[in-house]
Amino acid sequence: APSGPLAGRHVIVTSGPTHEPIDPVRYIANRSSGKQGHAIAKAAAEAGARVTLVSGPVDLPDPAGVTTIRVESARDMLAAVEQALPADIGIFAAAVADWRVANAGEQKIKKDGGRLPELALTENPDILATISRRNEGRPPLMVGFAAETEHVIEYAKRKLAKKGCDLIVANDVSAEGGVMGGDRNTVHLVSQAGVETWPTLDKAEVARRLVERLGTWNVGGKA
Ligand code: C5P
Repeated sequence: APSGPLAGRHVIVTSGPTHEPIDPVRYIANRSSGKQGHAIAKAAAEAGARVTLVSGPVDLPDPAGVTTIRVESARDMLAAVEQALPADIGIFAAAVADWRVANAGEQKIKKDGGRLPELALTENPDILATISRRNEGRPPLMVGFAAETEHVIEYAKRKLAKKGCDLIVANDVSAEGGVMGGDRNTVHLVSQAGVETWPTLDKAEVARRLVERLGTWNVGGKA
């Protein structure tokens, strides 16, 4: 049997962007490499957990020792997460597109002499909030991410309440930091217990420390 701080636990991780089709050849997406989410899935497996990684389209290999489910859209991602429940911990690091095209074409939209297509947008489900607010089958420990360019801690506190999760891992993605697509990350752990600010670390090291921290998290308590 596996040993480590997460031995015996089932962890669901979401990672990467989602792609929302406009037509069969075009999509709307968020900018996300999936590096942090994939590193967390790998670290959780190395910490002894059974890991289900639900990943949007990324250029990364499926991490070893992890069950990876590849999806395209936000709705597919939510369905895959629900399918993977029950779990002890949910770590939702995906950059989910907030909107999708309501009138996505079944055929490629043709250019039409300067006439522009009208794209009607509709809101996607919030996967983190949906799972965090479930009455039945909510993982006892739900972790969300917040990428902000300013007022990082303040916005993270609001997000914690709004989403109903137990912990927000907040990071500053303002252009100077080079977090987007880069290998390093500066994070703040924001929970009811307060704020923990970590030094700038490799995403792999952020993942290892986060997993270790979650292994000793006092579920339902004050960390
Ligand atoms: O609201 P915002 O997108 O900033 O929240 C970020 C957090 O919420 C991340 O953990 C992200 O994975 C999650 N999220 C989600 N579904 C959405 C939007 C965000 O799970 N539709």
